Amino acid sequence: MSQTPDKPRVLVGVTGGIGAYKSCELVRLLQRRGFSVKVVMTEAATRFVSALTFRTLTGEPVATSLWADEAESRVHHVSLAEEADVMTIVPCTANVIAKLAHGRADDMLTTTALATEAPLVIAPAMNTHMWRKDVTQRNVAALRARGVVFVEPGTGELACGDVGEGRLADVALIADAIEAEARRSRDLAGVRVLVTAGGTEEPIDPVRFIGNRSSGKTGFAIAEEAARRGARVSLVTGPTHLGDPYGCEVVRVRTALEMRAAVLARFDAADVLIMTAAVADFRPAAFAAEKIKKHEAPDAVPLERNPDILAELGERQSGVLLIGFAAETTDVVGNAREKLRAKRLDMVVANDVSDPALGFGTEANRVHIITPDAEEALPVLDKRVIARELLDRVASRLTPQKER
Ligand code: PMT
Repeated sequence: MSQTPDKPRVLVGVTGGIGAYKSCELVRLLQRRGFSVKVVMTEAATRFVSALTFRTLTGEPVATSLWADEAESRVHHVSLAEEADVMTIVPCTANVIAKLAHGRADDMLTTTALATEAPLVIAPAMNTHMWRKDVTQRNVAALRARGVVFVEPGTGELACGDVGEGRLADVALIADAIEAEARRSRDLAGVRVLVTAGGTEEPIDPVRFIGNRSSGKTGFAIAEEAARRGARVSLVTGPTHLGDPYGCEVVRVRTALEMRAAVLARFDAADVLIMTAAVADFRPAAFAAEKIKKHEAPDAVPLERNPDILAELGERQSGVLLIGFAAETTDVVGNAREKLRAKRLDMVVANDVSDPALGFGTEANRVHIITPDAEEALPVLDKRVIARELLDRVASRLTPQKER
């Protein structure tokens, strides 16, 4: 890396999995995107792809052992760790994830990963059952809590012949995540951001509820991206299977009324409110304390209206930057613009949820970002990229206020 000091530097760690051949492609892609790349491999990785392949691709020595004579004046794993702007491990096995989660450092790759202060991006690849095991998911959660970025494995045919989750993510997506870490700025340092996510559940009886298909992915992506850019983030979320995002205060609620209470309690301390939550507009008027028996089922469930949290806060004219989301199936921009006006918002993010492949529960979405005097149509993007795009606009709205 010393010969191209002007380029951002990525240290690619390769572990022993069949996906190792794809890290050759990743190295090439990163170079094309303007990064200087070095490689560190586990001994097992060298069984899949030779160090010579990476040496040829990068023009740099490849670190494979703590004991090799690299003719370095400094301890090699420390110098590699310090030089890197981003470290990534692609593919990353369950074994290496476990080692990192427990702070073990017994080879060149894990020693370097422990020593580095650079952001770490991990793209796991393994058999479905290994990926889904509680112990693996606990290790992933522990690393996430320390700020490690995971590029989740995809679903498909695996090397072992199984079909399922565990396939190495698309190389371009991994490169996007690395690039985001390398170029991430701290433009939200000190800004207090309140985000809501997920859908609310409105109980009918102890086991039944009215709900919707919001997964929380959009809100969680925004909360995590804001925290990584330096914001102090509170995330109020409805029920979701997602683990806590990095660096946020997370408040888990169930109903619209609980969400309202949690948001109101934090609103006065916020500079920005971003409401991605799909809040139920109605709740059952009565809650049956015992499970309703099939033969006692009522002909109808009377409903009553939930408070509109965002409209209530818009009324206050508080100076907090208010951003709503609007899920629409017809006249997407027109209806969203009407919500912007009625709820007195600064910005509304409109999504067309008539296409079941986009919006609720999906990885990607297509949104329009609408302000009182402008509107922008974004292409179909991963929700993490939408989070970055949205927060770029938030940051540019806040800068003049900070300077005043
Ligand atoms: O969670 P994901 O699976 O990633 O899905 C993301 C999403 C599709 C849920 C998200 O992109 C989205 O569109 N969220 C808003 C959906 C919605 O309920 O829109 P709405 O038109 O009902 O509400 C408009 C705005 O008012 C929203 O910001 C909502 O949070 C807010 N609202 C709505 C009702 C209510 N009682 N109180 C509110 O504050």
